Amino acid sequence: MIQSVNESRPFSFLTLRATDYSDRKSGMKSIVVANWKMNPGTMREAKKLFDATREAAESAKHVSVIVAPPAIFLRELRARYKGKRLGFAIQQASAEGSGAYTGDISLPQAKDAGAQYVIVGHSERRAKGESNEDAGKVVAAALESDMTPILCVGEKARSHEGEHFNVVKEQLRTGFSGVEPGKISKVLVAYEPVWAIGGEKAMSPRDMHEMAIFIRKTIIELHGEKGMGVRIIYGGAATESNAAEMLRDGDVIGLLVGHVSINEARFAALLQALENAR
Ligand code: 13P
Repeated sequence: MIQSVNESRPFSFLTLRATDYSDRKSGMKSIVVANWKMNPGTMREAKKLFDATREAAESAKHVSVIVAPPAIFLRELRARYKGKRLGFAIQQASAEGSGAYTGDISLPQAKDAGAQYVIVGHSERRAKGESNEDAGKVVAAALESDMTPILCVGEKARSHEGEHFNVVKEQLRTGFSGVEPGKISKVLVAYEPVWAIGGEKAMSPRDMHEMAIFIRKTIIELHGEKGMGVRIIYGGAATESNAAEMLRDGDVIGLLVGHVSINEARFAALLQALENAR
């Protein structure tokens, strides 16, 4: 059953406020990752969407935009971009360096095509059988390749008993198992509650704030105080209507955006909402 975590508050630390972290992040640029998923259908459309995305990003100077197109479009889009402001991500990659892995893309190949970021363990990949261990290997391999992993975590549903916290904890434990404390701040954690993905109603910023505290506390428990520096973004029905509020009150530094990122007007409005909210 889906319910607000506010109704069941099994962890006393959740009442703590992470004000010191909020203060520290005030000088940072926010991050918006445009996860195009398996869209659009042709290179021609991809170029059009990319040009609109670039233009929208240019008028939102305080937002770092990272585009995650389908891998097959990546190299050409990267080649058509001469600026420095946009980042590029591969939507998924193998932890293996090379070899007999039909259909897979390696991190060195993704990097060669222009990706500096890699989305790891997205729920749509987990639904196809990717495990927490698989995600952990890609996170470690990405850091090794000097790429930034965007580790996706999030529960399928919420329960009164707070089981969703255990799900996220295990995803973080395994996902960070190969990360040295000195590299924790190089990982972006994308909290994406699966039940919110694809809709128009995101989780409340207050619930996100609680989850952000939980994520930070979990990483501190596992890897020491450097875990305080972990960067967290939110995904799941992030829209032009809720983006500013989520960044203001959700204790996150950015958003992982799905369907709104392939709608030129809506994505431009989302970036502008963040820019205006500064
Ligand atoms: P939506 O923004 O379409 O909910 O998708 C979220 C997501 O899965 C981004 O990775």
